Amino acid sequence: PVKQAQTWGCTPLNEICFGPSATPILPPLRGSASHCVTFKTDGCVPRLTPPTPTPPTYRDVWDDSHVRMPTSSQCLYPVPGSKLVKKWVLITQALSKPIRNSFELEEAILTYNSRFRGKWKFQLLHAYFARHQTKEETDRFFSTVLPPLKKLVLNLPQIMTHAVPLLSKGVSYSLTMSQEQVACLLANALFCTYPRRNSNASDSEFASFPSINFNSLLCSRPIKKQLHKLQCILHYFKRVLSSMPSGAVTFSRQVLKEAPNWDQSTKPFTSLHVSSTGTIEDQGHGMLQVDFANKYIGGGVLDYGCVQEEIRFLICPELLLSRLFTEELSPNESLLVIGAEQFSTYRGYSNSFEWGGDYKDQTHLDDWGRKQVRVVAIDALIFNRKWQWRQYERTRLSRELTKAYSGFSGETGMTPCGRMMGVATGNWGCGAFGGDPELKALLQWMACSIADRDMVYFTFDKGGELLSKLVDIHQLIMSRRLVVSNLWELLNEYYTEVVEEREKMTLFQFLTGKLSSKPSTK
Ligand code: AR6
Repeated sequence: PVKQAQTWGCTPLNEICFGPSATPILPPLRGSASHCVTFKTDGCVPRLTPPTPTPPTYRDVWDDSHVRMPTSSQCLYPVPGSKLVKKWVLITQALSKPIRNSFELEEAILTYNSRFRGKWKFQLLHAYFARHQTKEETDRFFSTVLPPLKKLVLNLPQIMTHAVPLLSKGVSYSLTMSQEQVACLLANALFCTYPRRNSNASDSEFASFPSINFNSLLCSRPIKKQLHKLQCILHYFKRVLSSMPSGAVTFSRQVLKEAPNWDQSTKPFTSLHVSSTGTIEDQGHGMLQVDFANKYIGGGVLDYGCVQEEIRFLICPELLLSRLFTEELSPNESLLVIGAEQFSTYRGYSNSFEWGGDYKDQTHLDDWGRKQVRVVAIDALIFNRKWQWRQYERTRLSRELTKAYSGFSGETGMTPCGRMMGVATGNWGCGAFGGDPELKALLQWMACSIADRDMVYFTFDKGGELLSKLVDIHQLIMSRRLVVSNLWELLNEYYTEVVEEREKMTLFQFLTGKLSSKPSTK
């Protein structure tokens, strides 16, 4: 008989710590010096309708610690005849006119972005409606989706009554918004209303922020993955317009003040479950799910990028909003997003990516009205082919450990079982960023162990081969009772004995040799 292929290894999943018992118990939702809540927190959860924004009436803020809002009276835009007018007036005028097709939509967007007339060519937008949708679907979009979508854009001063604070470098800060506020801010991104966000110049005010206006996507080449990316986004708007979700989402910038001493850590390794099937988003329920991020959060999602991070942002578009206010992540920083709902499924990957259809996210809400789903964005270092060897250098090992640990240790709090949920991860930094999965798996396990979290590792396209290697190395590490500092030392020995000597030996081969000959540490 054909032997069933092994699909998991190391610790069984039922011994891994995750789910409600490993989720922090929440205090009542309240704003503080390090937490901005932009809606009224009274009333019970789940709510039937979106919560009321705070402050109760629009307050104009225009400064360098907040998003420059298009609604501000100080947001001015030149019109022909060299007059400056309030941009919001231009936007309101442009969107008050009927928009019956993609060309009228382009024209509306260019009215308040007239500097880019002739430069922004809305190829993807036009191809999407001309080729990717049937005539009926297109007609339906412009007659039934676009009118309420325009209204959502124009309701910005009623829905987001205060400028959104920036999550700037070096500051641990959280932002909790209603899903309606997220939808309204994202609708503004689709319509490219945000000022000061269209320049690539290195001295521009938002040079250290990701882009947020969707013009780069709408103007991209109409290749398959781009058409399907736009489909994910428009599907999200269709869904929220047909029934506005009433929950909340929290975005937290987590800054690690002091990195642990890897070389002195006596922490034992936590439990590890490795699976050669499944994905972080589908199988990572109740775990801290890793986003293989770019330091500019969302990476190429509005350009041509379409790998793990971008795909996650497309099926859970509320994540896209982090681009509005999250400054480039430093090596000791991560972004945690709690509550981003999934609206779509997908098929394929990268160039074969396809929208897979509607997804009804059944994840339970917490006491703050957020879906119980946590995504933590950590950006790995980039190693191209020529510089592969550098990833094993001490300073780079330390950088990746610091980054992972900042993501895994940021959220604290009491949990019913006394431990924090495990981390659902995989080949972080090993696709677009070219890292070695053997190394990255161990570094993440070390960071998990210091953060006292279990790890669930999806080998994804590296399949059973990586699974069996991880099973062997896990067995050796556990049987030798290594602690984190022992492995740190071994990683450094690999650098000096193999990498510097230009020996041809993989990390796991090296470790296997070392550990097989070593008596177990006490
Ligand atoms: N679940 C588990 N593993 C996955 C999944 C998934 N859903 N998707 C992919 N993998 P990559 P990086 C595995 O290249 O190297 C983006 O543009 C798969 O083996 O997305 O850290 C970001 O914005 C894949 O090869 O991450 C950054 O700019 C591996 O994870 C850049 O890519 C790595 O996925 C980050 O590149």
